[in-house]
Amino acid sequence: MSNHITSPYAWIDQSLQSIHRANWYRSTQTIATRAGAIAKVDGREMIMFASNNYLGLAGDRRIAQAAIAAVEKYGTGSTGSRLVTGHLDIHEELEREIADLKGAEASLVFSSGYLANLGTIAAIAGARDLILGDAFNHSCLKKGALMSGATVLDYQHRDCEDLRAKLQQHRHHHRRCLISTDSVFSMDGDLAPLATIMQLAAEYDCMVLVDEAHGTGVFGDRGGGLTESLKIQSELIQVGTLSKALGSLGGYVAGSAKLIDFLRNRAATWIYTTALSPADTAAAIAAIQIAKVEISLRQQLWQNVAIVKQGLTALGRSAIALDSPIMAINIGDIAQTLELANYLKENGIFAPAIRPPTVPTARIRITLMATHTPEQIQSLLNCLRF
Ligand SMILES: Cc1ncc(COP(=O)(O)O)c(C=O)c1O
Repeated sequence: MSNHITSPYAWIDQSLQSIHRANWYRSTQTIATRAGAIAKVDGREMIMFASNNYLGLAGDRRIAQAAIAAVEKYGTGSTGSRLVTGHLDIHEELEREIADLKGAEASLVFSSGYLANLGTIAAIAGARDLILGDAFNHSCLKKGALMSGATVLDYQHRDCEDLRAKLQQHRHHHRRCLISTDSVFSMDGDLAPLATIMQLAAEYDCMVLVDEAHGTGVFGDRGGGLTESLKIQSELIQVGTLSKALGSLGGYVAGSAKLIDFLRNRAATWIYTTALSPADTAAAIAAIQIAKVEISLRQQLWQNVAIVKQGLTALGRSAIALDSPIMAINIGDIAQTLELANYLKENGIFAPAIRPPTVPTARIRITLMATHTPEQIQSLLNCLRF
């Protein structure tokens, strides 16, 4: 053994220093208020333009009441994994609600959307298979693909010609093939070309997995997601989260009854972890019930999207996409992006800089909520004038 005197953990400090040098350093900002359009961030009241709480349900009292009632009835913890002691009647109810929202035969609830993707992808693909994923897919789709042991290839972002070329070249070398994509891309807010992906999947005999983390509650007449708008829900594997428009915590996969039965036996991130807590489960049930029928929430959200879209165009600010409540204003230079984020913050607007390595180029990412008022939106646009 060498007799060096540096600590075996010294590399951590060196790594942190390189993260700082690259301007990649990130840290948390403390929020001390109920989820809503106004938040106290690091002690300062600001208008929140960074939350995934698209319908405002994370702060909705009816949902809080449902969570409180579940804690009173079941307690705070679910006490075990679903296959041992943690399987509650409200998990079954939630899974029925999700299946109904998603137009699927069945669904399965995981402890987060991240775990739902890891567990599902790693269970349905293996060493003899091929996974083709959009280059901008969320981290959990990419990590799930790696976990599966399949051959993993990225196709260029939203580029179905590249997807077709890769299918032509590689599909026949593999047993099964999975095409995976976000429906609404989390960092840019643009939409996957799902209709063409479905055609290619049929042509090349592929499974399709769509992550509706940012589409659920937002798209579709009942908030079922982009797959509901396109009427393709029954033909694919739908994954998503309960933590964004649905204001709770947890993730899910929806699909055929056989797929769900298989995942109950094979998805490690579902089998070997504690079941979703009673509070989160009951909150998600209440949120889905509200999201399905309170169409006015979705209308209000889309009205806000239209106002910001018009405002940004009038200001000559170019957003990567204007198709969803996520709008990313591309700045490019990291230092300039941080400067603009700070300027917004000083003016009471919370819209953070998103930088590499999360995204290829630095941008300000704005997310809109149904509960933003016209005045709040005007304050945002006023600040983006400069
Ligand atoms: C596209 C996408 N998929 C999955 C997730 C993970 O969901 P969760 O936060 O429930 O783990 C996120 C966000 O965090 C996301 O943006």
